[in-house]
Amino acid sequence: MQRNNAVEEIKSRCNIVDVIGRVVPLKKAGSNYKGICPFHNEKTSSFIVSEQKQIFTCFGCGATGDVIAFVQKYYNLDFLDAIERLANEYGITIDKSSFRKNEKNDKLYEINRDAANFFYKALTTKANAGYAYMKNRGIEPATLKKFGIGYADEKWDSLYTYLKSKGHDDSMLLDLGLISNSKGKYYDKFRNRVMFPIINTRGKVIGFGGRIIGDGEPKYLNSQESPIFLKKNNLYGLNLTKHDISKENCAILVEGYMDVISLYQSGVQNVSASLGTALTDNQAALLKRYTDGVILSYDADDAGRKAALRGLDILYGAGMNVKVLHVTDGKDPDEFVKKKGKEAFIELIKKALPYADYKIEHIKREVDIATTEGRVEFIKRAITVLKALSPSEADIYIKKIAADMKISEGAIRMELYGNDGGAVMNAQALGSGRRNPGAGSDAANMSGQASVPKAIKNAKPISAIEKHLIKITLTDASYYHKVAAYSYIFRNEKASAIWKAIKSVYREGEEIDAEAVREALEIGEQDVFDDIMKNTLVAGYEEQIYLDSVRRIEISEMKKRESEIKVMLSLADEEENGENIKELTEELMEIQKWINEQGGSQ
Ligand code: GTP
Ligand code: MN
Repeated sequence: MQRNNAVEEIKSRCNIVDVIGRVVPLKKAGSNYKGICPFHNEKTSSFIVSEQKQIFTCFGCGATGDVIAFVQKYYNLDFLDAIERLANEYGITIDKSSFRKNEKNDKLYEINRDAANFFYKALTTKANAGYAYMKNRGIEPATLKKFGIGYADEKWDSLYTYLKSKGHDDSMLLDLGLISNSKGKYYDKFRNRVMFPIINTRGKVIGFGGRIIGDGEPKYLNSQESPIFLKKNNLYGLNLTKHDISKENCAILVEGYMDVISLYQSGVQNVSASLGTALTDNQAALLKRYTDGVILSYDADDAGRKAALRGLDILYGAGMNVKVLHVTDGKDPDEFVKKKGKEAFIELIKKALPYADYKIEHIKREVDIATTEGRVEFIKRAITVLKALSPSEADIYIKKIAADMKISEGAIRMELYGNDGGAVMNAQALGSGRRNPGAGSDAANMSGQASVPKAIKNAKPISAIEKHLIKITLTDASYYHKVAAYSYIFRNEKASAIWKAIKSVYREGEEIDAEAVREALEIGEQDVFDDIMKNTLVAGYEEQIYLDSVRRIEISEMKKRESEIKVMLSLADEEENGENIKELTEELMEIQKWINEQGGSQ
């Protein structure tokens, strides 16, 4: 079955009232159904399900969408997983290969899963050094099972022999970094180690971390990168903890495998780890699917502090609310929670320092504020922190620092905003509070940002806007960030693959290496890329074409929101949703006025 047919099939066979009714008690109300919204806290029913239109809408929090969007949002799934879940529940057969086209990757996942099962059996079926090691570190059998922890023994070819008996290819085992080749012989890479399978949020085993049993080098051996394992895109433990993270609206981010496992076992379950490398933008984006709050809980040593400072900026830059805590006893969260227990760790969480406080504390530690030079240096560096804050946040810290350092607030403001500090601040405050109908971010959120672009990826031929924005970025890399702000418009599958490739190749301040982008693409995508390089002409007109594209995108976002509001209004009950109707009507008028001002058509 073709992909789009499958989506239609799901939508026609899974009645939204039935799907939602399984998890939200619904009552008939006129031609619709009503219930308590599962997406926000409420006592009265503002959640409406329309059988006729096959959509849901909440007048309290604005959530709205079709049956697939509901399953995505309710179970925290991406589009494809939501489809799969519905297909399974309703016994609809879909051809998965039309969704996940890459069969080679499926094979790689299968091999890793076999390897994980092999290691897990080795740890749990008879006495072995791995089990003893984990027991000694206080890890219980239930936890071993939850995380699928396993054991790689000391022999040279235990895993290799097993995987060959399953009929797997040498070349794929090499790709995955499970074996190496030396003088024509294959041997296992992971030996004498406790094995931690790294599982993505779809539940696939994408790689392993192996800890040496006892002392030895390297202490941890991680799978090499492979077509299914990109370290910068994944976080350890998130497959298990994503629900807790989204329920608490907070992720505790730690450095190591054992930190995740110990915290989880102690009952702190909204936890994940960055796999021993510096946190990346992609990892921040992944977390942001589940929460906008993060507490960095890195080791208490210098390396941990440095990593926390870097991670802090990445997460703050991704628009998250970030705090930092360092354990006060033991070298890492694992040791701390074992010694002091869950409650003590929760106390640390409560006392975690917010972004700006942590950075300012750090500066204080680095300069000698007993001297005048030190204090001047402190203010200079603190100002750079304040510059990243919103005006109202900055205001709070100006007061704190002034009191702390015994300097006048005016002096700090002058440093921060220039001579006429106050006026600049007010202008900024006004600017950020103003409603901007052109931004269209509401529209994107309302329709379930993750679902819409993917849902129509295949249905849509590549658009001129997609081609233009790609070409502009490749012609002049200074457009990269501007285009990135609109990257959700890359809905065509190939255009979105090309944008992803650009993202992976892009380096701040450098032109983009088109050849490297091309190499990162698959063959069908390369054809589209070549076509754009040859036939999409922008040189000399970059700015004009960019501005025109942005205007078109905004008009189309506004039109989407316009029709969404019309549907919501058609469902609203005049008596109960009077206030919402008024707001929505006002928004609708504002949008229609705005569209008219743009000339109305695209
Ligand atoms: P334990 O000693 O088992 O408690 O480990 P730890 O988590 O306390 O180790 P550490 O703080 O030294 O390292 C934190 C994380 O960095 C680990 O979980 C690994 O992901 C990674 N790491 C540590 N050592 C190595 C190494 O030798 N090689 C690699 N590739 N990663 C490492
Ligand atoms: Mn440790």
